[in-house]
Amino acid sequence: MPPRTDLTTFHTHLLSSRRIMALCGAGLSAASGLPTFRGAGGTWRNYEATTLATPEAFEADPGLVWQFYSMRRHMALTAKPNVAHFALAELARRKGGDGGFRTLTQNVDGLSARANHPPETIDYLHGHLFDVKCSSQSCDYKVQDFRDPIIPEFAVPLAKRSLAQRAPGPEPDAPEGEDEQLVYDESAPLEPIPKERIPKCPKCNNLLRPGVVWFGEILDEDMLVSIDRWIDSGVDLCIVIGTSGNVIPAAGYAHQIRQSGGKVAIVDLDVNAGGWQGGKKAFDWVFEGDASKIVPELLRPLVGEITIPDDDDDAAAAVA
Ligand code: OAD
Repeated sequence: MPPRTDLTTFHTHLLSSRRIMALCGAGLSAASGLPTFRGAGGTWRNYEATTLATPEAFEADPGLVWQFYSMRRHMALTAKPNVAHFALAELARRKGGDGGFRTLTQNVDGLSARANHPPETIDYLHGHLFDVKCSSQSCDYKVQDFRDPIIPEFAVPLAKRSLAQRAPGPEPDAPEGEDEQLVYDESAPLEPIPKERIPKCPKCNNLLRPGVVWFGEILDEDMLVSIDRWIDSGVDLCIVIGTSGNVIPAAGYAHQIRQSGGKVAIVDLDVNAGGWQGGKKAFDWVFEGDASKIVPELLRPLVGEITIPDDDDDAAAAVA
């Protein structure tokens, strides 16, 4: 049977579901202005974003990899969570306490935390952009660091841009009446950063690196065990949001839940462009479009009308 696309049957199943999981990817934060990893927006200065997210890339040119992550850190700090982040956070408050809702996110941007998503109901599969850790596997040094930039050499190039020409993205913080803002300038040349300038671990003097999971690296074992246990206890509905399904274990969870009899819905701009085996047939419901518009609609029977707080500074402070 082809997947459904109607809200009515989805809402009926949502309301009868005892245990619900959200599986999120970069598309969740796209409406906040953050670039995805693949497809449009998946390149940075002619590099495929995915080729920089590797231990090998860091080994070869740690300065370049830090420049890439400094850009992502800067953009994440300037971005604001969108209404889909807030809707998921609200569902977690209403249903997560008794284990009825869990979110797995591959996003490292901190936007779910800034939407006050209860931390005990969300797993950050790929770590956190604002963690900085030692690159040595035998050292456990790790700290949270929200500085932008971490060292002056990592400062991202900024250029003035007219707000009238602004591309869709994070809302500018420009004072009223100002018609220009400073935005990341991808055309500005990058100065290579020598290895000696990369910050060092205060414990063992090896290079510090972003606290995210890179390709080829192992995810946190305790987290994986806990997720497996939760899924094994039965999931009635999995809502996949803005992930291309190219990376395991995340993509595998949706498949696993469906095989065990749960229903799976996907919210994505372009499902067929992803890596889902079977394409749209891998899902019971397919909702193609912007997650920030669709997710609040999908969850409305459980969370009501979601509005974004005027200012998320308090939430940002809560994360820091
Ligand atoms: P991708 O960039 O692979 O996929 C993003 C998905 O979001 C695509 O399917 C897009 O069609 C969809 N999308 C884009 N804008 C959207 C919008 N406004 N609303 C809804 N959907 C939208 O990102 P991920 O699947 O998250 O891992 O990538 C998974 C992992 O691969 C990342 O966490 C990262 C990456 O390499 C590591 O770095 C280890």
